[in-house]
Amino acid sequence: MRDQFGHSTIRSNVVRSQLDEHAAFGGVVPELAARAHVTFLDHIIAQACREADIALADVDAIAATAGPGLIGGVLVGLTTAKALAAALDKPLLAINHLEAHALTARMTDGIAFPYLMLLVSGGHSQFVLVRGVGDYQRWGTTIDDALGEAFDKVAKLLSLGHPGGPAVEAIAKMGDARRFKFPRPLLREARLDFSFSGLKTAVRLQAEALAPLSDQDVADIAASFQAAVAEVVSVRATQALARFRAELPEASPQLVVAGGVAANRAIAAALAEVCAKAGATLIVPPIALCTDNGAMVAWAGAERFALGVTDSLAFTARPRWPLDLPDMKVPVHVP
Ligand code: KG4
Ligand code: ZN
Repeated sequence: MRDQFGHSTIRSNVVRSQLDEHAAFGGVVPELAARAHVTFLDHIIAQACREADIALADVDAIAATAGPGLIGGVLVGLTTAKALAAALDKPLLAINHLEAHALTARMTDGIAFPYLMLLVSGGHSQFVLVRGVGDYQRWGTTIDDALGEAFDKVAKLLSLGHPGGPAVEAIAKMGDARRFKFPRPLLREARLDFSFSGLKTAVRLQAEALAPLSDQDVADIAASFQAAVAEVVSVRATQALARFRAELPEASPQLVVAGGVAANRAIAAALAEVCAKAGATLIVPPIALCTDNGAMVAWAGAERFALGVTDSLAFTARPRWPLDLPDMKVPVHVP
């Protein structure tokens, strides 16, 4: 947990990316993902213990993601955690993966509640008001594709490979963002939701109209697409911060970004501008901790454990698990 200065220490954070296993298929194959978890998990746990210089018998508790996500991999991880908890007689913490993203900024930057989180990954695009551990209110989400997913699909139709986000960002640097005026879906509506599928279709139609694409066409499409999403994200963030101010007038506004798309410099720059204008603090944890990682799950476990929460070994994995379900709430313990 934290030292007396409020800082936390990550003793080890082993990330075994499966991107190579899935690259040939142009996306994540659920069955392969589950098998890779079975193959690598024991080795990852052993490596994490070695790096942290700690024996499993000496940890306080075992935390694992219990959802939401591709259920095969989640089941392997949660079952392994249950087996360890049972064998070592340690408490289990079954963590909502989104809560782990939501609390990461407390691990890296020690920030206090409340704050607004923008989670933009391959599976999620949402604004969440984080009021406390287990206390979340979702203010908006995507009604179709997630933002990372839109980057991946655009990359695929431009033949840029997988994962698409970094490839689109790299090629966009060479492009003219004003060449194509792609739609900014939902932007006229006041709600804090996103929609990216119409934008993706507009990109596809443009690419088909120009085919065969020159390198410059690809760069211009990528740049114009990225400009459209950066604008959508900044308009929505401006609205979300205005709501934060209106609903929490006592709190100083803070915006935390999480998820793989936080790596995108055009989007990060747009958010920095929004926060500067709104007088809000922007917190972007180191990118390795914004994308999926074990340390954030351990941290969420540590936060919940410190509040007296543990979970039953009968806890079942959940493919869908919105953050604002009442069962996320930390029960109040009467001493
Ligand atoms: O959080 P993450 O690592 O995994 C989950 O989806 O849970 O996010 C991965 C997503 C992918 O869709 C990837 O294309 C996107 O984040 N991404 C980016 C960039 N780096 C990763 N999107 C835009 N620009 C980037 N530089
Ligand atoms: Zn994630």
